[in-house]
Amino acid sequence: MHVFSRIVVLAIIATIISAMAAGVFMTSASAADGRAVFDSLKCGSCHKPGEKSVAVSLAQIARAYETPEQLGGFFKGESKPIIESEKPGMMKGQMPKLGALSAEEQKALAEYILGFK
Ligand code: HEC
Repeated sequence: MHVFSRIVVLAIIATIISAMAAGVFMTSASAADGRAVFDSLKCGSCHKPGEKSVAVSLAQIARAYETPEQLGGFFKGESKPIIESEKPGMMKGQMPKLGALSAEEQKALAEYILGFK
């Protein structure tokens, strides 16, 4: 009897721990924060929300791209830039950082930028 109740207690503890672990994984996988990605990659040093600065504004990018999937394709290197620029080399230097993001982070970043429409 004694041994049996100990097993029950251990089983309950194991269930709680695995549920907590699953919770942690779910939040990190499903809630990539586009703004946090944008800030951590310092995209904002060249791209401001509303006005053109060093580079086109986020609003201009949001007008050029229809969907997060389309913008995500550019981040993955699957599609060429569509905005005409005299300084395409500046963005080219950024592409490895974008390519190194997870699919989840690329999607969150694309959704964040398209929010400036
Ligand atoms: C050193 C400056 C600089 C940084 C930092 C930078 N960009 Fe750019 N980006 C540019 C320039 C220059 C262009 C070309 C358009 C232009 O001339 O304004 C561009 C273009 C783009 C475009 C439009 C592509 C197209 O289809 O033409 C997107 C989207 C973009 N950048 C996203 C980002 C993201 C996301 C980051 C952060 C990883 C980032 N940029 C960081 C300078 C920069």
